[in-house]
Amino acid sequence: MHKRIRQNKLTLMIFITVCAVYTVIVYSGKTASSAPYLSSQAMEGEKLWQDNNCASCHQIYGLGGYLGDDLTNVISNPHKGENYVKAFLNAGSKSMPKFNFTEEEKEQIVQFLSHVDWTGYYPNVDAELGKDGWVSIKYK
Ligand code: HEC
Repeated sequence: MHKRIRQNKLTLMIFITVCAVYTVIVYSGKTASSAPYLSSQAMEGEKLWQDNNCASCHQIYGLGGYLGDDLTNVISNPHKGENYVKAFLNAGSKSMPKFNFTEEEKEQIVQFLSHVDWTGYYPNVDAELGKDGWVSIKYK
């Protein structure tokens, strides 16, 4: 009788230990922390993007308002790029408001858009439809 209780306790302790080790492995694993790294400048830029409702007129990966252009790849576009974006921000246009951003804020928005650009292509025009129905998209 006593022996069985001791055995049960031992089994329980082993079970708890295994669960604890498993938990540590799962929550300290690389997968949880391997999200794309956003610099602090880019994070400030993202905040400006949100606070100024850029997405009410612009899209990223096709999502957002449709008055302005999709800005996913505006930084790597050979005809546009960083200085073009900065110039646009404080100049505005007929249908885009003028913003009075400081040089630093403009740089932060550019950093945010550069990060977005680094994540992929939109639209993914070089995607290929395979015979098996699988779509291979082009990655950066
Ligand atoms: C009220 C709508 C509106 C808001 C809000 C807005 N934009 Fe625009 N934006 C536009 C329009 C419309 C254009 C195209 C203007 C044109 O060609 O005359 C444009 C153009 C641009 C361009 C040039 C895009 C290109 O590919 O040529 C950039 C960059 C840009 N906006 C960034 C921003 C950022 C960053 C914000 C937020 C801080 C923002 N816009 C907020 C309407 C808006």
